[in-house]
Amino acid sequence: LQNSYILAIESSCDDTSCAILKNNQVLSNVTAAQAIHEQYGGVVPELASRAHQSNIVPTVDVAIKNAGIDKNELTAIAFTKGPGLMGSLLVGTSFAKSLALSLNIPLIDVHHMQAHILAHFIDHGQRVPEFPFLGVTISGGHTQIVRVTDYHKMEVIGTTQDDAIGEAFDKSGKLMGLGYPAGPQIDKLAQLGNPSAFEFPIPKAPGLNFSFSGFKTAVLYFLQKEKSKNPNFVEENLADLCASIQHTLIKILFKKLEKAVKETGIKRVAIGGGVSANSGIRTALQAKQQQGWDIFIPPFEYTTDNAAMIGISAYFKYLNQEFCGLDVSAAPRLSM
Ligand code: KG4
Ligand code: ZN
Repeated sequence: LQNSYILAIESSCDDTSCAILKNNQVLSNVTAAQAIHEQYGGVVPELASRAHQSNIVPTVDVAIKNAGIDKNELTAIAFTKGPGLMGSLLVGTSFAKSLALSLNIPLIDVHHMQAHILAHFIDHGQRVPEFPFLGVTISGGHTQIVRVTDYHKMEVIGTTQDDAIGEAFDKSGKLMGLGYPAGPQIDKLAQLGNPSAFEFPIPKAPGLNFSFSGFKTAVLYFLQKEKSKNPNFVEENLADLCASIQHTLIKILFKKLEKAVKETGIKRVAIGGGVSANSGIRTALQAKQQQGWDIFIPPFEYTTDNAAMIGISAYFKYLNQEFCGLDVSAAPRLSM
């Protein structure tokens, strides 16, 4: 097979991203983030799709320019079919179809959650996980444990029933008056605090599933109660609060990861998603590595939403000549 040059587009949530891959190597990976959502403390779907509309052409242009190739050299166009926000997905899907049509090259649809996991196979000079492994995606939109037996053979064995773990970080932070997204700030402040200062409940969820909404409510009630006694409670205890909240969220995550490793007998664990940047999670993973787990974390730029992961997923489909027709449509609730 000749070298492939795949142009990939990701637009499932609030980032417009375009990447170009030569086989499994990233030539460019350009992301336009949308600052507009910060003032609302979360992603506003209607604003996201409008921002994708204005960002997509310049993002694709820069990605092609940075890759140093001519668009006539492209061998296929890839895009995120789902899951995600309908209005956002539609922008990437329509753009990808038009581009494939005008260049007369194949179109490849990609599953966003599979892409988070296949990001581990981008050629970045690190070890790649062997099959089977557990793919764990933790971000502002996802909390999933997936049993991966081949590039596109994946089974979700645990998922959140309500909020994602990143949302739990962000919403707890909002309750303490921190800006959005609060995850990185909680991480920083937690390093100055005592993780056992306050105790928060571990929500119950069946099997390998997660629940975080009860946690957020517990934080809300706890802060309300303490603030009624001392209006400066949050300011006076911010580092301890952050450390205790982070400690509990890590406990919730690892309880299920340990259960998953035990039940499947698979000790290879590949982590992705923006929350994998958390220093407490990284320390806990190092401890697990000492205990015999084999941990994989890709470079940060491939853990958050990005088009390079869409490109690598498309590459494996390209090798099998798995293309889709121009009648393909976006699928907000696409299952694994
Ligand atoms: O993958 P991502 O960039 O976007 C999606 O949600 O798809 O993840 C963003 C999430 C946010 O919830 C943010 O607060 C969280 O990742 N996050 C962190 C850290 N860095 C990012 N949470 C805890 N600790 C961090 N260091
Ligand atoms: Zn994502």
